[in-house]
Amino acid sequence: MSETENKDVPENLPGAQASAHGDVAKRGGNPFADPGLPPHEHRIQDIDERAARRSERTVALFFTLSMLATVAFIASYVALPVDKIVYIWPIGHVSALNFALGTTLGVALFMIGAGAVHWARTLMSDVETADDRHPIEAAPEVRAKVIADFKQGAEESGFGRRKLIRNTMFGALALLPLSSVVLLRDLGPLPGTMLRHTAWSKGKLLVNQNTNQPLRPEDVIVGSLTFAKPEGLEEHDHDFQKEIAKAALMIVRLQPENIKDKRELDWSHQGIVAFSKICTHVGCPISLYEQQTHHVLCPCHQSTFDLADGGRVIFGPAGHALPQLRIGVNKDGYLEALGDFEEPVGPAFWERG
Ligand code: FES
Repeated sequence: MSETENKDVPENLPGAQASAHGDVAKRGGNPFADPGLPPHEHRIQDIDERAARRSERTVALFFTLSMLATVAFIASYVALPVDKIVYIWPIGHVSALNFALGTTLGVALFMIGAGAVHWARTLMSDVETADDRHPIEAAPEVRAKVIADFKQGAEESGFGRRKLIRNTMFGALALLPLSSVVLLRDLGPLPGTMLRHTAWSKGKLLVNQNTNQPLRPEDVIVGSLTFAKPEGLEEHDHDFQKEIAKAALMIVRLQPENIKDKRELDWSHQGIVAFSKICTHVGCPISLYEQQTHHVLCPCHQSTFDLADGGRVIFGPAGHALPQLRIGVNKDGYLEALGDFEEPVGPAFWERG
């Protein structure tokens, strides 16, 4: 038999004495419990003061660790330089300040949560109670009275009689939401020329984003989807995230005779084509390639683009084809860019000019 069962409940527990009598006994010492509930089982902390003190100390430890983490958060904010980059396994290169702030804040919040949960589970009352559910519909006479009161209020306010007031009030209420439209300006400036230029330029090698090695035509096989970045763009660079977000490329090899778009064919090398990886809807990275149809799919809202037809949109909310990068091969046999994208990459919601 468990040490938490009722036979071990001390006399001084609330309701424990009452449990010795009649129906209350079936309620596990809780005189308010429904007799249909199973008998209440007391926790070890309810019947052993030393166990209760242990739980109390554990909860206090969680809260103390939270306090220490908050102090560490403030100390990191004050002491760490904004531009210090460190290598953290397995994440890679990250800002030391961001990492410290995120970690300490996460620990502080977690410890408060863990302390609260442990407190609730071990020390707060866990007595079961039953509360009958009543019908929520009001009685017919109550509803009739509410309707009568409403009609009387409308009559007394003159809402129906005073048309001038009523109509101007409707006008004011209809116009008010328009004021929120002007707040859209506070969403920030338009991208300006930022998306018109990327890290690609004439002669820049196409580097495999996974292996960090320059790509040769023979590395790109039919059916595969390769992600590439411009040479010289390294993860620990200050602007890496911003630049890679603009310059990220998808490379696939098609049969030249399958390429429908004349310009696309001219900008390819032996059927290898390079398109921006950034969806022209709202900028998610595209990641799914269907070899049979040459379609790529954006996972965010399912925009689908045909890579054999100039990156044309064939489905979904995107309103613009994927920008293509003109590529060739240098004298050493590596794939290289023949210039920057000729149109802005990324979301097409702003004026492309
Ligand atoms: S961001 Fe790609 S479909 Fe919306």
